[in-house]
Amino acid sequence: MAVQQSQADNIGMARQYAGNMVRLGWYSGLNWLAERRNAATGVPEQKVHRKRPVPSRSELMADLRSLLRQDAELVRDGIAVADAVEPAAGLIDHIARLRAMFADLGNAAERRHSRTSNTVSELAAVADMPDYFAQDFHFQKGGYLSEESARLYDVQVETLFYGAASAMRRTALRPIAEHLAGKDQRQVSLLDVACGTGRLLREIRLAFPALRLTGLDLSSSYLSEAAAHMNGLRSAQLIAANAEQIPLPTSSQDIVTTVFLFHELPGDVRRRVASEMARVLKPGGRLVFIDSLQMGDKPNWDGLLEAFPQRYHEPYYRQYAIDDLVGIFSQSGLRVESTLLAFLAKVMVWRKS
Ligand SMILES: C[S@@+](CC[C@H](N)C(=O)[O-])C[C@H]1O[C@@H](n2cnc3c(N)ncnc32)[C@H](O)[C@@H]1O
Repeated sequence: MAVQQSQADNIGMARQYAGNMVRLGWYSGLNWLAERRNAATGVPEQKVHRKRPVPSRSELMADLRSLLRQDAELVRDGIAVADAVEPAAGLIDHIARLRAMFADLGNAAERRHSRTSNTVSELAAVADMPDYFAQDFHFQKGGYLSEESARLYDVQVETLFYGAASAMRRTALRPIAEHLAGKDQRQVSLLDVACGTGRLLREIRLAFPALRLTGLDLSSSYLSEAAAHMNGLRSAQLIAANAEQIPLPTSSQDIVTTVFLFHELPGDVRRRVASEMARVLKPGGRLVFIDSLQMGDKPNWDGLLEAFPQRYHEPYYRQYAIDDLVGIFSQSGLRVESTLLAFLAKVMVWRKS
């Protein structure tokens, strides 16, 4: 999107970039501390078997800084709101979540060491859930179904990604803005599939306040967290449902987004969810898909993709990493408009014919 120099918010861009660098420093520190504390638990680390190459730390960090620059450019271009970063609920709440995350590190190390991935089965909510979902993803106690898991999810993910998860999600904002050009936002509907704790929904609401927003997720605990996270903003409709059967009419959505879902689904479910997302899109509507890099996207990083499912409980990740996303979405009637790599994420934009 071309932006005239006179309209560019350069001060906002500088603010956002500076904020992003503080965030990078903060979460890098937490990442380092978590590694140290993990080592101090005395629980032996799972040995990672890797045949493929990994990037050097300086290559990784240079790529991350480039993502953070692109994120700041969203503010320069009037797309994102400056400082739309954590902690939205305030510093005390943020510190409380971090303390809880660190308090659980020893138990998490034990679960990882013993490959325990079924604590979720103790929860009543598991009864109505599909088997592929009823597992402790990331060795998180309670999988996606406990309130504590929902409370800790974002600090865990940001600590893992050096604070870059929000910037990876915000890459969705530019294709959304392009789709909205010349349209009345109040008439535009957007559905975020597997919205989790609502981090992307909040960013979308801040950037495009009048959109008709809906979030869908299978976890009621995560949806409660999402509702709290929208606090102070116009709310979004939140639906507890399986993305394999989206309870919305055919051709009802102008835009569908989905972030970090597909790598957690078995191959056949991935295909059903893709066809549901295509079904609810209006003709001409856009899907913005964000998930992990796949093998070969950045060949020098393939060793990271090899290691990830060995360290975290991610039963479908290996197959996701080599799955044919273009085939999946094309068969659902979508055609690809663009593909972009953003640090550890792949951002694909699709259009329904
Ligand atoms: C890795 S999290 C990603 C959450 C969020 N999109 C984000 O950006 O952090 C995966 C999410 O997918 C949800 N999920 C997994 N399988 C699902 C399904 N079949 N239908 C709906 N949601 C599902 C989980 O409950 C969880 O909130």
